[in-house]
Amino acid sequence: MSRVKKTSHPAVDPVEQRKRAHLELCEKAEVEHPGKTTLLEEIDFVHNALPELALEEITLTTEFLGKTLAAPFLITGMTGGAPEAYAINRDLASIAEQRRIAFGLGSQRAMHRNRDLAWTYQVRKFAPSTVILANIGITQAAQTPSSALRELVEAVGADALCVHLNPAQELIQPEGDRDFRHGYATIQRLVSELGVPVIVKETGCGISPTIARRLYDLGARYIDISGAGGTSWVRIEGLRNVGEAARLGAQFASWGIPTAAALLALRGTSIPRIASGGLRNGLDAAKALALGAELCGMALPVLKAYTAGGVAEADAFLSQCESALRTALLLTGSASLEELRKQPLVVGPRLQGWLEALTQRERRN
Ligand SMILES: Cc1cc2nc3c(=O)[nH]c(=O)nc-3n(C[C@H](O)[C@H](O)[C@H](O)COP(=O)(O)O)c2cc1C
Repeated sequence: MSRVKKTSHPAVDPVEQRKRAHLELCEKAEVEHPGKTTLLEEIDFVHNALPELALEEITLTTEFLGKTLAAPFLITGMTGGAPEAYAINRDLASIAEQRRIAFGLGSQRAMHRNRDLAWTYQVRKFAPSTVILANIGITQAAQTPSSALRELVEAVGADALCVHLNPAQELIQPEGDRDFRHGYATIQRLVSELGVPVIVKETGCGISPTIARRLYDLGARYIDISGAGGTSWVRIEGLRNVGEAARLGAQFASWGIPTAAALLALRGTSIPRIASGGLRNGLDAAKALALGAELCGMALPVLKAYTAGGVAEADAFLSQCESALRTALLLTGSASLEELRKQPLVVGPRLQGWLEALTQRERRN
């Protein structure tokens, strides 16, 4: 493949340009939900003063899509479609391989529009054995035959396709989608026709238990609840635009179900779920796992570490997350993630309020 020729492709594609602006804002601006947190601070563990465990006994291994990960982490989908995006994908996929954690690609919409950009997503050779996730938006998925989506997945050697939901972000974008019908039918079609597992993910506004249940019943293999309290795509669109879009973006910047609330509402169900949205350290991850998540996804903190200090800093950040997670397991007397999930949790009043509202909705539906 002639990379020199591909990199000289003019960046006129609006999707590609928008992705560049997003990356730049994420690296330089304040892009998290203003005045709203994940509410993970409302979760507390019960300390075990005599755990009868050695740190070296603790295992974080996790089965995910038929592969064994060394720790329950996922670098969630961020980018693709431009030469600098390729470098990020290549480096983060290499880190994922070395750490034996999962790696997600950013939306493959740019590649779908222009096959010359496929190479910016093709990082399987840097991560030959770990889980790689393909990515597409629900609206593009609805408009694309399953065979073409399967080609997108196969072209990057992915283990599953993440279909992302982002209606709030789209509504702020002047050029964004306005029609969100046929979403469930699209998921149902992909589950039966794609030939690889389908994961449905939000992008920072959360998925309610009612919707998670319906998606799971349709055959979605995992639900990534990607809740509020971390990166706010509504805020980013507000910052990227002027006039009405900027106003609307600022007004709705904190929209969404906090990550801990979305997870708590699914506690005790058999719906396989991934936690993401505002997870910023290993203790956040421990709480999300104790609430029943099988995997913890992080986007912005990995990107920030990578931007600040390249591969070494991104790797160091993930290493810190892993050691803090081990610490939480030891201090709760849990030798494995399975044992962590059985620990009693203290749940604060604001989170209880969310739980009441989310489960009331569930009962009504
Ligand atoms: C720079 C950047 C680009 C992203 N691009 C995508 C994308 O293309 N597809 C997608 O499903 N999610 C995308 N996301 C959303 C993340 O996967 C994640 O759901 C969200 O950012 C919440 O996690 P965080 O608070 O750890 O950033 C992106 C996030 C960031 C920071």
